Amino acid sequence: MNSEKIVLSGMRPTGRLHLGNFHGALKNWTRLQDKYNCYFFVADLHSLTTAYDQTQNLAANSQAMLTDWLTAGLDPRKCTIYIQSDVPEISELNTLLGMITPLGWLLRNPTYKEQIQELLKQKYAGQMDEKSLGEKLNSIAGDEEISSFGFLGYPVLMATDILIHQAAYVPVGKDQTAHLEIARDLARRFAEIYGTPAFTEPEPLFTSVARVPGLDGRKMSKSYNNAISLGEDLETVRKKVMAMFTDPNKKKANDPADPEGCVVFAFHKIYNPNAAKRCEECKAGALGCVACKKELFALMEPELKAFSERRKSFENDTDLLHKIVLEGKEKARASAAKTLASVKKIMRITQ
Ligand code: TRP
Repeated sequence: MNSEKIVLSGMRPTGRLHLGNFHGALKNWTRLQDKYNCYFFVADLHSLTTAYDQTQNLAANSQAMLTDWLTAGLDPRKCTIYIQSDVPEISELNTLLGMITPLGWLLRNPTYKEQIQELLKQKYAGQMDEKSLGEKLNSIAGDEEISSFGFLGYPVLMATDILIHQAAYVPVGKDQTAHLEIARDLARRFAEIYGTPAFTEPEPLFTSVARVPGLDGRKMSKSYNNAISLGEDLETVRKKVMAMFTDPNKKKANDPADPEGCVVFAFHKIYNPNAAKRCEECKAGALGCVACKKELFALMEPELKAFSERRKSFENDTDLLHKIVLEGKEKARASAAKTLASVKKIMRITQ
């Protein structure tokens, strides 16, 4: 560690990582752990903001994700790894910050609007017209199953995660910008209301990480059904690669095409040292999509195999995982308790 600055990030426990999480976040985290005082956590409370009725897989999903983190190279000797719900100070600070959060900030949050739109669409696919969906989206009560207090409060909980450890930098994707802005605004608002600052104002860390699109060109996400998971068998991966979205203007193998919007090309940039050459060949109409996809899969296959091999040494070692999150919990609680105590003192709710 060559900086005392605190870096913090978390992920909801969706089970095995997909390639978007792996290339877009995890690889970066493993670099950051050598430079900063890092906290990485499993955001299990956050997954309850939507999947509150699907808690049966929560523990297994957390374990699977943690195992992937370790396999990717996160090292508990270099960073603090913990589970959000193991740190009760987070829930307490969340309550306090909730008191000073204007409702308008949450209702206007574009990430909230997008997510609720997506969830509403999934739930009412084909049953409701655009207008009724829009009305549901804009009404404050929304949909009974989707629009919960906890869901609206997602950004407050996320701000709590960050502020409670005095994090200076938060490595996140661009889609989290609005959430991070709320964390910064809350830090400032607290200082204005009580006349004393209690928190470091966090900054996003958009390191030049690879952008990994999903198979259809949208952001890769399990909920969009466009992901390749690290746990997938290789034949399924091969099929998914062969079905990836390409330039729709390219009809024949020797048509020239534009690789910029092509999913296959985005993956070549990650896996292929000759990506620039393939780009030129594609533009010149000298490379067909089938050959291009075959080459990509041939490059991905050994990496995926090696990951699965490496993972074996962590799999089923529940003692090891248990020990890691127990140690992480202690470190995270100590850091969180410090901030919480100072906040309560400033708010005069403790003697
Ligand atoms: N909202 C983040 C995501 O969906 C997960 C998250 C929760 C997070 N709390 C956080 C990320 C705090 C960074 C910092 O990816």
